[in-house]
Amino acid sequence: EQATKGNFPHFMLKEIHEQGTAVKETLMSISTDPRVKEVLELLEGRVVVVAAGTSLHAGMVFSYALGKLLGKDVILLDSSEAYHLEKLLKDTVIAISQSGETYDTLKAVRIAKRNGAKVIGVVNVLGSTLDREADISLYTRAGPEIGVAATKTFLSQVTLLLYLVSRMSGVELKDPHLLVESSIRKSIGYARSLAERLKEKQSMFVLGTGASLPIAYEGALKIKEISYVHAEGYPAGEAKHGPIALAEEGFPVLIAWTPEDEEKLQVAKEEFASRGSEVYWVGPRGDIVAPESDWLHLPFTITPPFQLLAYYMAVLKGYDPDKPRNLAKSVTVH
Ligand code: G6P
Repeated sequence: EQATKGNFPHFMLKEIHEQGTAVKETLMSISTDPRVKEVLELLEGRVVVVAAGTSLHAGMVFSYALGKLLGKDVILLDSSEAYHLEKLLKDTVIAISQSGETYDTLKAVRIAKRNGAKVIGVVNVLGSTLDREADISLYTRAGPEIGVAATKTFLSQVTLLLYLVSRMSGVELKDPHLLVESSIRKSIGYARSLAERLKEKQSMFVLGTGASLPIAYEGALKIKEISYVHAEGYPAGEAKHGPIALAEEGFPVLIAWTPEDEEKLQVAKEEFASRGSEVYWVGPRGDIVAPESDWLHLPFTITPPFQLLAYYMAVLKGYDPDKPRNLAKSVTVH
């Protein structure tokens, strides 16, 4: 086990650093995959996405991009809730799952198949149950992910899904792996020092808007999973409808930048800062510096800083980020 970590103290840090390669390989593979033609035809119709955990956040990136660029409405269902709405599981269902073994996702897939839907699996583990049961599988090429907290598989899923969006919309996906690599280089030092300041906090918000909202949710999930600090992703403009009640001296708020509406983020910042909250930005001119990008490429620039922040918070608190308590890499029970 030690040997495969290479020079890294933990698998999670190694896998964060492997993201450039994972994204590059996934893009190369999907852009030459003959199955894409049929998938694009299916995507012209009604589309439902089911996924859990980090994979659900990749689904959010996909549905946001399709809505924004094409006005296409994708129904996004959390796998564990999907069976309540089983009549929705028809036409084309995309199931996103790193492991291909998540019980709730497979349950939704089986209902969908019973309803006569075409199931497209987006999966990282070849030969997994989802890979076998889906009508068509598309593969992320992240390689094995050992750390329980998903990192490189998330950006690989995002790459694959945004590639489909780019084929549908004609908007080009440009060198995402270079953005990921530059993001890690730029943000790692800042992420570590902010982790020093945040590690003793009990609770925090991670605010986003537009394209940064799924990343705010994913960042908050990473922080919870491995540093055991309560972190809640929230839409920046919605925070005034309740969450602001928690603002007080020293209460931390992280803001995930997007070029789409900086003013809205600035307003949210003021609302919290004026009540004594500590507000930290993750973005090009932020407290954690990430590269500039347009909204479509934002997952590649904004995700790594949150992963690194969560990683260092866990490590500085003495926790093993690779094996967080109470969590399994793949949840095969309901
Ligand atoms: C577990 C893992 C998460 C993962 C989720 C979905 O909860 O701890 O990291 O995102 O399952 O897994 P899947 O394999 O379906 O993507």
